[in-house]
Amino acid sequence: MTGAMKLQDMDYPTMTLSDNYDRLSHNPMWNQAMRNAIKERLEREKGDAVLMARRGGITPDSWQADLLRSNARQIILLCSRQSGKSTITSILALHQAIYTPDSLILLLSPSLRQSQELFRKLQTFYNALESESLPQAVEESALRMELSNGSRIVALPGKEATIRGFSGVSLLIIDEASRVEDALYQSVRPMLAVSGGRIILLSTPFGKRGFFHSEWTDGQGWRKVKITADQCPRIDKSWLEREREMIGDWWFLQEYFCEFVETSDQVFSYDDIQAAISSDIKPLFERS
Ligand SMILES: Nc1ncnc2c1ncn2[C@@H]1O[C@H](COP(=O)(O)OP(=O)(O)OP(=O)(O)O)[C@@H](O)[C@H]1O
Ligand SMILES: [Mg+2]
Repeated sequence: MTGAMKLQDMDYPTMTLSDNYDRLSHNPMWNQAMRNAIKERLEREKGDAVLMARRGGITPDSWQADLLRSNARQIILLCSRQSGKSTITSILALHQAIYTPDSLILLLSPSLRQSQELFRKLQTFYNALESESLPQAVEESALRMELSNGSRIVALPGKEATIRGFSGVSLLIIDEASRVEDALYQSVRPMLAVSGGRIILLSTPFGKRGFFHSEWTDGQGWRKVKITADQCPRIDKSWLEREREMIGDWWFLQEYFCEFVETSDQVFSYDDIQAAISSDIKPLFERS
């Protein structure tokens, strides 16, 4: 290689084949250097999704980077509004689809519109990568994408009856999980049974009820991550103060400080119910 062809002279690591090949295709040595550099970049991104996130224009916050690098099979993200939980989970899903061929990734939320919203984040990020050297989308709609490496990403409606039938799921993502019905959660969990796939629940809280609350408080085998609004560098502190005055403490604590406050229609408080079923208290009648 001549001095003019050194790898570091090239626009690495943001270059793509389409950016550079036209410019360089008359020079086979450049082309080879380019191919090697792209291969090296893909290898590095395969091992570290944070690099892929950066190339797509997102510099992850430290908790987001930890999430992208985590191998945990079960993860719960209890996070403030607008903290970036959907964005980073969509990047994690895309990384799995790109770098693990034949992955089946399901995006689930209380409604099809919300699942689609998450899917759109993933699609937007995929387009931002603009790379011909990644697996290409061979089939794409508003609800699903199939890549040339056999991976599929599917956005699902939030109704139990319509989503049975998937098996071999590699990654199941449930966005706004605190508002997803328990029956739906129970019906999708078996989809991970044989595949040993991963599951990520992400949400703000919604009262002391439902599977999201019980998995967060008592669930075993989960990696649990809590991010309040004051931990998010993009949420302005004075804006938060004004928001507290506008929406009141109840909503504020739930939406921005991840508190499982009692739901307004709950007759007995969660703590009262827990006290009532305490094993310390002897029942009036013993079973025979
Ligand atoms: N690391 C980051 N760097 C820059 N912008 C980011 C980062 N993470 C998220 N964002 C931006 O912050 C905004 C909120 O992100 P996102 O929608 O993922 O948050 P969320 O926690 O899912 O919010 P909600 O509770 O409203 O669903 C988006 O505009 C997103 O692009
Ligand atoms: Mg979101």
